[in-house]
Amino acid sequence: MKRIGILTGGGDAPGLNAVIRAAVKTAILQYGCEIYGVLDGYDGFLKDGGIIPLGLKEVSGILPRGGTILGAANRGNPFARKVFQDGREITVDKSDELIHAMQQSGLEALLVLGGDGTLRIAHELYLKGIPVIGVPKTIDNDIGGTEVTFGFDTALNTATEAMDRLHTTAEAHHRVMVLELMGREAGFIALHAGISGGADVILIPEIPFKFEAVLGKIRRRIVRGSLFSILAVSEGAKPLGGNEVFSRSGDEMYVPRLGGVGHLVGEYIEQQGYETRVTVLGHLQRGGTPTAFDRWLATRYGAAAVRLAARGGFDRMVSLRSEQITDVTLEEALAVPRRVDLNGDAVITARGMGIAFGDE
Ligand code: F6P
Repeated sequence: MKRIGILTGGGDAPGLNAVIRAAVKTAILQYGCEIYGVLDGYDGFLKDGGIIPLGLKEVSGILPRGGTILGAANRGNPFARKVFQDGREITVDKSDELIHAMQQSGLEALLVLGGDGTLRIAHELYLKGIPVIGVPKTIDNDIGGTEVTFGFDTALNTATEAMDRLHTTAEAHHRVMVLELMGREAGFIALHAGISGGADVILIPEIPFKFEAVLGKIRRRIVRGSLFSILAVSEGAKPLGGNEVFSRSGDEMYVPRLGGVGHLVGEYIEQQGYETRVTVLGHLQRGGTPTAFDRWLATRYGAAAVRLAARGGFDRMVSLRSEQITDVTLEEALAVPRRVDLNGDAVITARGMGIAFGDE
């Protein structure tokens, strides 16, 4: 193997730069091969100057940096690229153009750092002849085939710190504080931050909630003398029999954007007579320096992805299982998304400690 490429697709996650750095160092120092960065996800293949050489100098100092030195794009599906033609927007399949660009560049392997959408595209590209290797990235921790994605730990720490800060002000003012957290269809950030940050109520997409049950928990606390309550609410949480709350519906250009369930819950509680404030943590969960764990995991993933490329293990994704880095087929990784196990010890522990999920 002489030449490999690397790209970062979808929403960014803390640790992307750590993966890039590890891949570049391993490619150059262990295998003596060249490595190129593809800019702005798959888009880099489709524009002039979108593929740049990466050397040791380019990755020096990036280990603690959030974001990605390669840029990311979450609307860059080459199989359905939106373009303007004659004043209107149409969808075009640019995958053949991408494959041509990859062949022209002489890349013999492509490391794709992404979440489910980006990795699904990688698998489709493999079926058209592109030698891809996946690296599981997302703060949501919702990719199958691995125990954890990089980026999750940093988001969890940010969310937990936010809960700690809300605690002190909630207690001072005898208020209910609602913290809306990211995670789409998976409740891992809210569940883990809720437990780590001492939440009284955790609402996650996997457990539809009843408003009265949430209120019941707040009232029970007041009866016991705890005049404040903290709620960790996943953006994808939904009332029993109801739907997720979106801040913007989807159209041809954008996927629907989740957001607003925190306010929905907060307004209900306030209407029942309890002073409530709502905080939406939003993209703060995606930014900033990765935690030591995410750097450690990202570094191991990046190096392992290059080793996998050297072995010709294409259409596979590096993964963590029982503390060991291994790899699985992309198909296996994408078959079943990771969701909170309702019978797992985290949920059992939380319930046992009196944390309410709004379902009873
Ligand atoms: O998948 C990662 C994630 O941060 C989700 O938790 C969130 O719903 C979404 O991306 C936000 O995407 P965007 O950056 O497009 O607003």
